[in-house]
Amino acid sequence: MQVLGIDIGGTGIKSAIVDVETGHLVTERFRIDTPKPATPKAVAEVIKEIKDHFNWTDDIGCAFPSVIVEGKAKYSANLDPAWKGQQVDDIFSEYCDDTHFEIINDADAAGLAEMKFGAGRHKSGVVLVLTLGTGIGSGLFYDGTLIPNFELGRMFGKDGDVIEKYAADSARKREELDYDEWGERLDFFFKHIERICSPDFIIIGGGASKKIHKFRHKLTFKTPYTASEKLNNAGIIGAAISASEHHK
Ligand code: BGC
Repeated sequence: MQVLGIDIGGTGIKSAIVDVETGHLVTERFRIDTPKPATPKAVAEVIKEIKDHFNWTDDIGCAFPSVIVEGKAKYSANLDPAWKGQQVDDIFSEYCDDTHFEIINDADAAGLAEMKFGAGRHKSGVVLVLTLGTGIGSGLFYDGTLIPNFELGRMFGKDGDVIEKYAADSARKREELDYDEWGERLDFFFKHIERICSPDFIIIGGGASKKIHKFRHKLTFKTPYTASEKLNNAGIIGAAISASEHHK
């Protein structure tokens, strides 16, 4: 079965058709910059452009950077504040000729892809998939089952602000941190995590997964970890898996 997967991020909206039996992309990736401001209307127009680009008429899986409960965004996260409380699936359907959309938190989607086809394939117990990008996303799995909307990036950090403001890849860029400085911040964050949920294994994903070698020497926490295998495609693949699982 093939499904169109879309991953909405703070900087780019990425998409491809995915073979959900193998986890492979069957088309080139198609990426459009996230509109600024990323209002519901502006993002929905990009989603329509993607649907048209692939000439796609079936269900669509969509990874969204906020807590998602039954298709609704609980927060606006790193998009426009107008997203808070919006029924994301209905908004996209309206712009896309009533196509059915399955919406899932972006880190949960990345986690599904890793657990099924990537670095989490043979892992049981408590596995945590973290995505380090504009925000920090976290997907938590117990024996392969997703515990949705686990928001570790929203814990409070050193200065009382959410920890993703201190440790996300966007903080590295914004504050022009070198990799040693950023690695130390990540280590602080990971040690927090160990205390909170004692994971058996951690998978580091998002844009940073390609750069682990640059800060690995600063990571002193004890939990075994590895880089994501599906890298920047994990959100697209997981979104497609999620839609295929809910296909009617
Ligand atoms: C949001 C998460 C999301 C993460 C990565 C955070 O700001 O709260 O829901 O998974 O960013 O996009």
